[in-house]
Amino acid sequence: MGINFAVQSEGRPGLHVAIIMDGNGRWAARRGLPRAAGHRAGIMAARRIVERADEIGIRCLTLYAFSSDNWQRPPSEVERIFWLLRAFLRLETARLRDRGTRLEAIGRRDRIPEAARIAIDLAEAATTAGRGLHLRVAIDYSSRDAITRAACEAVSRCGETFPRPEQLRPSLMRALAGDSGEVDLLIRAGGEHRLSDFLLWECAYAELVFTDRMWPDFGAKDLDRAVEEFGSRERRFGTVPASAAVGGAR
Ligand code: IPE
Ligand code: IPE
Ligand code: MG
Repeated sequence: MGINFAVQSEGRPGLHVAIIMDGNGRWAARRGLPRAAGHRAGIMAARRIVERADEIGIRCLTLYAFSSDNWQRPPSEVERIFWLLRAFLRLETARLRDRGTRLEAIGRRDRIPEAARIAIDLAEAATTAGRGLHLRVAIDYSSRDAITRAACEAVSRCGETFPRPEQLRPSLMRALAGDSGEVDLLIRAGGEHRLSDFLLWECAYAELVFTDRMWPDFGAKDLDRAVEEFGSRERRFGTVPASAAVGGAR
């Protein structure tokens, strides 16, 4: 397939790719369509990318579907997004299960519409045995919130004694990246160059790829290109390039 997946993360083969699916509204506006049409087209793009990610052997794919700050949007838009999310789950769950994909929602569950919460619970239960692609959908998600909650939990487990940083760090790592591993490659569609409160801890050493392509236009080839770009990068994790290590520090 011409794509190098030699990366190991958390001891399991394959990449953890995270995508900020941005640009739905602008895609629609450029066509004189309502923003809802952009979200609808965005769902179709998500279906294509999940399928392609599975085909090319990505281990974990985390899609940013709705941020905690997105509650500030007009209620009609929010309602439409959750309606589409339910439609996505209704259309895709059987197919995901048949492909061995395990779906998991990350983010808060206590504020989302009940019908959407039920649809998520059902989709997770139906795909829980999947051993192929681990598909995570971030809904009502805020990375700062996730880190804060993980820290509170870790501290409360320590009882009376306040944990030292070297105790807290592995707990946070487990809580935030335990099942999925840290992000290897972060892609943002839609032309903006920011993280918008997405996976801040998990992206500490992620390779970042930004594309001007609006999310509804993002296709299998764009994912392939981003993965190829990832393969051409040298990840150093704070050390020196392999070529420099041979001669030692001179
Ligand atoms: C991303 O597209 C989808 C969500 C945030 C739910 P936007 O709706 O942010 O599209 P733009 O950025 O306005 O074009
Ligand atoms: C980030 O996009 C959230 C999702 C893609 C779900 P936003 O459009 O909400 O981000 P900002 O407002 O441009 O930072
Ligand atoms: Mg946006």
